[in-house]
Amino acid sequence: MALLEFDDVHVTYRSGGVVVPAVRGVTLAVDAGESVGIAGESGCGKTTLTSTVLRLQPKTAAVTGAVRVDGEDVLGMSWGKVRALRWGTASVVFQGAMHALNPVQRIGTQIAEPILLHDSAVGEAEAKRRVGELLEMVGLPARRAQNYPHQLSGGQKQRVMIAMALACRPRLVVADEPTTALDVMVQAQVLDVLSGLVRELGLGLIFISHDLSVLSTSCDRIAVMYAGRIVEEGPAGEVFDHPQHPYAGALAGAFPRIGDTRFRYAPAGLPGDPPFPGDLPGGCAFHPRCPVAMAECATHEPPLLAVGDRRTACLRVSAEGVR
Ligand SMILES: Nc1ncnc2c1ncn2[C@@H]1O[C@H](COP(=O)(O)OP(=O)(O)OP(=O)(O)O)[C@@H](O)[C@H]1O
Ligand SMILES: [Mg+2]
Repeated sequence: MALLEFDDVHVTYRSGGVVVPAVRGVTLAVDAGESVGIAGESGCGKTTLTSTVLRLQPKTAAVTGAVRVDGEDVLGMSWGKVRALRWGTASVVFQGAMHALNPVQRIGTQIAEPILLHDSAVGEAEAKRRVGELLEMVGLPARRAQNYPHQLSGGQKQRVMIAMALACRPRLVVADEPTTALDVMVQAQVLDVLSGLVRELGLGLIFISHDLSVLSTSCDRIAVMYAGRIVEEGPAGEVFDHPQHPYAGALAGAFPRIGDTRFRYAPAGLPGDPPFPGDLPGGCAFHPRCPVAMAECATHEPPLLAVGDRRTACLRVSAEGVR
């Protein structure tokens, strides 16, 4: 049994008469000790999908399918169980969350808060010791606990957010674009911290990023999303080096290497914009932008087909076989 399973998850926002199918049938599993990257353009549903793990979706969102943690469906859980799940079993490093640190509280106090709230057996001294341990785990000296957020750089604040997510020793962490705002050197350090935690603590990690090259170096597997669906999924190196879906090819082709076959799809970026989920084109949602679309791509939505350890949703790939 996987630590986390999304089973045919659909999430539809309904507000002001507008219906937005933001996630359309996602099936994906994450094991303990495994890191899974989710890539895709802005608005493709990455945050919406992962918000269901802790039941954080807004009231305007209807969710169907199942989201199982340790085999138990989160969508049907009592609120008491959801509260224990949050922080305790699973936690999220939210997109842009480093800006949400309380500016008038010391870092240490903020990291200690969930520890004290979730474990009544832990006293102030023990919480302080654990805060020091957590800071060191993310590569910051324990004395940083005394600092206020304005005394830290962006990268250091992002590490504090990761330390906070680990405060109650969860087994599953969702990191939503934890490195997007950081320079490449600090980004590499934060990625090292996260992959170290997956290895040392046996964490299950979902790592969301626009940047396929980042995911290819730091994750075991990658799922590429387009317009609310997974269009390609498989071992990270294979998806990056030999993408099968034309959209995954275009994403990977945005990081060119001389003589690289990934140039085949989109050496100069993709034409057009990602579709608005409330107004998707018929057939394959990618077909209006696809450099290799066929006539039937406008009328048939391709299923996500598994071949070996890879899954791809593309009529051309299913017609021509694995490249
Ligand atoms: N509360 C909401 N009500 C209505 N629509 C929403 C809501 N939240 C998100 N959406 C829409 O759902 C779609 C998916 O949004 P989501 O935030 O999941 O995208 P994302 O892949 O995380 O994008 P980004 O890379 O920019 O963070 C978008 O089209 C967005 O406009
Ligand atoms: Mg997002």
